Amino acid sequence: MRVRKVSGDNTVAAFNQGSFRRGGPQPHLWLGRIVAGMVEVRACADEREEQLSLDVYNAVWSHDAITMDEVRHFKAATTDHVDLVAWIDGKPGGSAFAAIMPHRPELVFVLSTVLSEHRARGAGTALYEAISDWTRERELDVLEAVVSDEDTKSLAWAERRGFAEDRREKGVALRLADIDPPRVEPPEGIEIVSWAERPDLAHGIYEVALEANPDVPGYEDEIPEPFEDWLVNDMQGSGDKPEATFLALAGDEVVGYAKFSLTAAQPKTAHHDMTGLKRAWRGRGIARALKATQIGWAKEHGYEELRTRNDERNAPIRHLNREFGYQPTTGRIYLRGPLSASGS
Ligand SMILES: CC(C)(COP(=O)(O)OP(=O)(O)OC[C@H]1O[C@@H](n2cnc3c(N)ncnc32)[C@H](O)[C@@H]1OP(=O)(O)O)[C@@H](O)C(=O)NCCC(=O)NCCS
Repeated sequence: MRVRKVSGDNTVAAFNQGSFRRGGPQPHLWLGRIVAGMVEVRACADEREEQLSLDVYNAVWSHDAITMDEVRHFKAATTDHVDLVAWIDGKPGGSAFAAIMPHRPELVFVLSTVLSEHRARGAGTALYEAISDWTRERELDVLEAVVSDEDTKSLAWAERRGFAEDRREKGVALRLADIDPPRVEPPEGIEIVSWAERPDLAHGIYEVALEANPDVPGYEDEIPEPFEDWLVNDMQGSGDKPEATFLALAGDEVVGYAKFSLTAAQPKTAHHDMTGLKRAWRGRGIARALKATQIGWAKEHGYEELRTRNDERNAPIRHLNREFGYQPTTGRIYLRGPLSASGS
């Protein structure tokens, strides 16, 4: 199965047949104009508008800020997606991104954000209705949405619309100035190298991912992507660097790996992306050696902070992070919910 690259043009055309409005009189009075007090939701027509959508997302979730490079890469990995802006009094005040992913074709993943100064004016509801219509057109009926675990108001907002918690990822951060680089002590017979040193081992990393990905709580049912798609989507984005990806080798066999996801939007923060081991090699201190290598690399390369989120049920990785001194910070609650009742 190959990832279907979507230009977005079809989506935009579908959306432009009628934009999504709230709070104003009859739609025909509003065509082509933005009037004070009105919320209008429109699909982004071009990359300039996509940047406005991203600006809202980055302002609301600055700890997860990314650049348009990462957005482009993520969009290319989707089966279908739409990027919306809620215009409030003619200014971008809210954004929503919805995607169908090849490894989870049964639901629509949604990231929706409204600037704090524009909340409680109907923008969130207008975005939710627009996403619901888009989802209905694709004959799906379940949304997966994300809220910050520190944002009780947004959680309550979603719960009032029938969303319920599916899983929870605890956020942790390590301030690198506060620690010395930990010693890297792999068990006997295991060598830690960077992927940049062994670019020939991509398929070996994939074999680890095939075993480790379904063991991450919350990801048990994902459909694995074929090697070529996985390589492009998971390993070759602008934030995926071979020199910041570390492999645990037993001879020439990759038995584990740990990679960062980096972004120019947060040049001093490195995000842990995936740490995974083949099942037979777990419980021997290999993940500990990989993580110690990552911490040392990040400190040496001028990063000030490491961040990650782990499912609350993922005891081994949370144990390791605690031992290295990671401290609690913002996490995420993943919710599942229905489409809005009132389609436009
Ligand atoms: C998470 C994972 C990488 C850990 O690999 P590992 O080889 O078992 O890790 P290590 O042996 O280096 O360390 C595991 C630590 O967790 C501890 N641990 C294991 N199970 C535990 C549990 N249920 N509760 C608490 N601690 C636990 C171990 O005792 C060990 O701690 P210690 O070094 O103080 O003894 C591995 O389990 C894995 O591949 N899981 C699937 C992928 C995944 O979930 N990755 C994390 C999300 S990115």
